[in-house]
Amino acid sequence: MPKIPRIIIYVLMIGGCFALIPPLVFARMRATPSPNAPIHIFWDMDLQPKYKTQAPNPLFADQRAMRPLVQGAVARGESYVDTHLYEGVVNGQWATTLPTSISLDETTLNRGQQRFNIYCSACHGYAGFGDGAVNQRAMELVANANGPVNGTQWVAAKSLHDDTTRNQPMGQLFNTVTHGIRNMAGYGSQISVPDRWAIVAYVKALQFSQDAGSAGAKVAGASN
Ligand code: HEC
Repeated sequence: MPKIPRIIIYVLMIGGCFALIPPLVFARMRATPSPNAPIHIFWDMDLQPKYKTQAPNPLFADQRAMRPLVQGAVARGESYVDTHLYEGVVNGQWATTLPTSISLDETTLNRGQQRFNIYCSACHGYAGFGDGAVNQRAMELVANANGPVNGTQWVAAKSLHDDTTRNQPMGQLFNTVTHGIRNMAGYGSQISVPDRWAIVAYVKALQFSQDAGSAGAKVAGASN
């Protein structure tokens, strides 16, 4: 093998060391914060003029970029004028009937059953006795631990067949589903208004199924 001249070996070694500099500079730049925007080759719509949250905007007298709601403005489809439909309230009292836009028929009850099974049965049980799987499991954990589990106490889901709940007007049930009650969270943000009414109708049907009484027997067409 011919001998490689020393000078070429030195040049290669020094060149190798210099070659390490650019990657080191890149690595350092990537790791240190910089006030400058990154180098953009394709801008697309990445950087647009805009006001960020809480930023001032001299265009308005109060200098706020975030504008408060214009008084009296109503978002499309969100005029909550119908208190029966949206709050379950008629003349300041809990509504005792379904709103006119919800018809009490098989479709509504089937929908209510399906939504109830999805959203409520975990705690209240499929028949509404407060014996849902989540509730049973929580009660079991609390009983085994003989007290709070991880600092949490469990409030048992109520039976929907208790006298107090059974005698509640539909509007009150609607309100409970919408806003929750005491330890139960509300479902207003997850379940649409018509679906909440369908659930209420189904809960009423469940309650009726356990407490038809003689009046119910008449309704059902049976003799006393
Ligand atoms: C995560 C468990 C859980 C789910 C899911 C749940 N609930 Fe409840 N519910 C509770 C608990 C717990 C209570 C009792 C709250 C208390 O007394 O602090 C309760 C109470 C109630 C009451 C009694 C209200 C009163 O006036 O005492 C009604 C009615 C009710 N729930 C209906 C529903 C309906 C309808 C759904 C489905 C949309 C639902 N709940 C979903 C846990 C749940």
